[in-house]
Amino acid sequence: MTPGSQIGVVGAGYVGLVTALGLAEAGFDIVVSEADGRRLDGLRRQEIPFFEPGLFDLLTKHATQRRIRFTASNADAAQASPMVFIAVPTPANENGDADLSIVERVVDEVAPTMAPGSVLVIKSTVPPGTGDRLQARIAVIAPDVEVVSNPEFLRQGRAVADTLQPDRVVIGGVSEAAIDRVASLYSGASTRIVRTDRTTAELTKHAANAYLAVRLSFVNATANLAEAVDADIDEVLEGLGLDPRIGRGFLSPGPGFGGSCLPKDSRALLAAAADAGFDFGVLRAAIAANDAQAPRMVDKIERAAGTLDGARVAMWGVAFKAGTDDTRESPALRVARILADRGASVVACDPMVTDFPTFITVVDDPLDAVDGADVLVVATEWPAFLDVELKEVAARMARPRIVDMRNLLDADEAARAGFDYVGVGRRPAGPAFT
Ligand code: UDX
Repeated sequence: MTPGSQIGVVGAGYVGLVTALGLAEAGFDIVVSEADGRRLDGLRRQEIPFFEPGLFDLLTKHATQRRIRFTASNADAAQASPMVFIAVPTPANENGDADLSIVERVVDEVAPTMAPGSVLVIKSTVPPGTGDRLQARIAVIAPDVEVVSNPEFLRQGRAVADTLQPDRVVIGGVSEAAIDRVASLYSGASTRIVRTDRTTAELTKHAANAYLAVRLSFVNATANLAEAVDADIDEVLEGLGLDPRIGRGFLSPGPGFGGSCLPKDSRALLAAAADAGFDFGVLRAAIAANDAQAPRMVDKIERAAGTLDGARVAMWGVAFKAGTDDTRESPALRVARILADRGASVVACDPMVTDFPTFITVVDDPLDAVDGADVLVVATEWPAFLDVELKEVAARMARPRIVDMRNLLDADEAARAGFDYVGVGRRPAGPAFT
């Protein structure tokens, strides 16, 4: 593929839109189809549907230069494109399995419109074996279109950077020619390309997410154990992370992992493994540990509040992590839901989130959130919370107590401001603990 060629992208979600704009930045002409009319209208007005650093500027640039256009029709995106990316959702079924019906419907729709020799690239996260099944599925309707797997590894909050400078690119296909064509998209980026078959590419994506899930559950378990044996997790992690085989990244304890990928993809891989007759016990344990982490946080909050019934809890942050306005499977909301069910009132603020569930009272300012509160819960590691004057926070609260689910604040500073402070795997700090 040479710059100037047309590429179709089906789906303007996180993965599709960021991929499309990354390809526009690499010089390709992009046609994106989007089924949601409101999202489509917004994109045509150069409005981004979710917050992601750098995304708005890329959209403005490429929409103005007419390097990207948006359409309601999947066929419109596909028919004149020698390469089409599928980036539609793969939600979970009731048993955790990935629901592939949207991917299948879209493939059935676009494959017959594509010219012989075209490449259909699956960006959506799908269980191992899906690409082979899709290839068989289109054998009659589009015999000369090759299905290639090119999974997405972007992290929300860093999606643009991850797409423009990927750590690695994994491409799974059957013919060298099709793999080469997908690889040619990345010729401008200095990255490592792993060439393999479709099923291996699909498993690579799932294994990456499953490994991260296991790593986080491991670190959360270690933090929980640190509390039980009176050790300090920050120092444990320093010593652990200095081992080059382990590293310090992606090792922060907290209220459990959330977001649209890690929890869903972990469950999907577990289900796919079970379908293949393999019990992925390590992953099952990681998921179970993650499910137990939010209730553990509630126990800490209950201890800090005395009782939850009638307690007023201030929550700083509801996004599933800092850097995004996304609350899907947010651990903050898991905790807030249990608190509300147990009779507490939750007053929350978040610098980016605009869409809050009804069981939360929303305020704009972190100081307004703590007015009269019995406990302050730090639920998302937004750096802006570090700028709030803790003495003023203490003065505004009914009782100066902090449960820092992200180990964001400096425990000693909180203690000096008069707080009883607990984190995750940290020693408690503050007047009542000394
Ligand atoms: C993840 C993967 O990182 C990415 O490679 C994949 O393609 C999609 O899923 P994302 O969901 O954007 O990306 O978020 P990530 O940064 O991985 O965080 C996932 C969850 O783990 C968040 O809830 C986050 O707060 C939590 N987390 C992450 C921790 O609790 N501690 C850490 O050290 C890192």
